[in-house]
Amino acid sequence: MQLTLNQNIQMPMIGFGTYLISDDDVQPAVLEALRTGYRHIDTAEAYGNEHGVGLAIHTGMQELGLSREDVFVTTKLYPGNEAWGQPVKTYQSTIDSLNQSLSNLKLDYVDLYLIHAPLAKEQRIEQWQALVELRQMGKARAIGVSNYGATHIDEIKSAGLPLPDVDQIELHPWSQKPALTSYLKDHAISIIAYSSLVPLSTWRTAPGQDSAKSEDMKQAGNQADSPFKMMAQKYGVSEAQVLLRWGLQKGYAILPKSNNKTRIQQNFDLLLFEIDADDMTAITAMDRGDGVAWSVGDPTKVS
Ligand SMILES: NC(=O)c1ccc[n+]([C@@H]2O[C@H](COP(=O)([O-])OP(=O)(O)OC[C@H]3O[C@@H](n4cnc5c(N)ncnc54)[C@H](OP(=O)(O)O)[C@@H]3O)[C@@H](O)[C@H]2O)c1
Repeated sequence: MQLTLNQNIQMPMIGFGTYLISDDDVQPAVLEALRTGYRHIDTAEAYGNEHGVGLAIHTGMQELGLSREDVFVTTKLYPGNEAWGQPVKTYQSTIDSLNQSLSNLKLDYVDLYLIHAPLAKEQRIEQWQALVELRQMGKARAIGVSNYGATHIDEIKSAGLPLPDVDQIELHPWSQKPALTSYLKDHAISIIAYSSLVPLSTWRTAPGQDSAKSEDMKQAGNQADSPFKMMAQKYGVSEAQVLLRWGLQKGYAILPKSNNKTRIQQNFDLLLFEIDADDMTAITAMDRGDGVAWSVGDPTKVS
């Protein structure tokens, strides 16, 4: 399954997420994902694992006889944030950042380069101008943003610049963002959903995997009669597969992350069942509002 981005670029809808996988562990995980059939890998400057991701891509291409065009690779600019005491990327340091990411990944270009979040405020537009330039230079085939709300994209529109090809945002039954997703569709901006598995009781439970998930949400995921457990039983799949399939049926690309061979396989096996219309309607009523994947709250709300 592919999503067609602007300029007719094909992006596989099932991608492999690598957040919270260390540079050492990421190599076997990404290699396993490639062996399973994933052809879209998502990393970021901020994940500190581009080096291992790159090694796995090169090993996987050799082992599986793939060419560079067969694997869709995304990385992200960490924009910096004055409010957190971090230097903010300028036009030039944005260009330098992608060059550094390409060197880490040992690639000549990425398929998609994203601004990780709208944290920069004053420099948001110059960062975007740099991404437009990087696409012209052939260093990124497609460019986009992540965690941007409609006001941030309106800023780009007002500056008369090309709009993003993609917005990567937290989307799952508990954070459905109907206004933002309809704005993105109206502006031909493709949607990549992240943290699809938030409603699971197993989602990011290891120490140091902070999020803004509430106690109430943690308990809801544990209930024996939770709606996702019931649907999983009905379709003969796992709860994770129901949540991921929901994303695909909404037309979003998805990025399940796992450091476990069985779950890497399971998260890729999504095409043998379909959530029926009644269950899709029932899920629409489960929206709880803002995302929880960032421990500081929903970055689409940053002004
Ligand atoms: N742009 C952004 O700001 C942003 C933010 C967050 C995420 N992302 C991207 O999206 C990707 C996915 O998001 P995420 O990492 O937050 O979470 P996720 O993929 O929704 O969930 C991962 C968590 O669920 C567990 N899990 C995975 N498959 C499972 C299964 N089949 N059954 C039960 N548990 C399962 C994983 O544990 P195990 O590893 O032990 O399986 C891990 O704790 C990231 O890796 C990253 O690439 C982007």
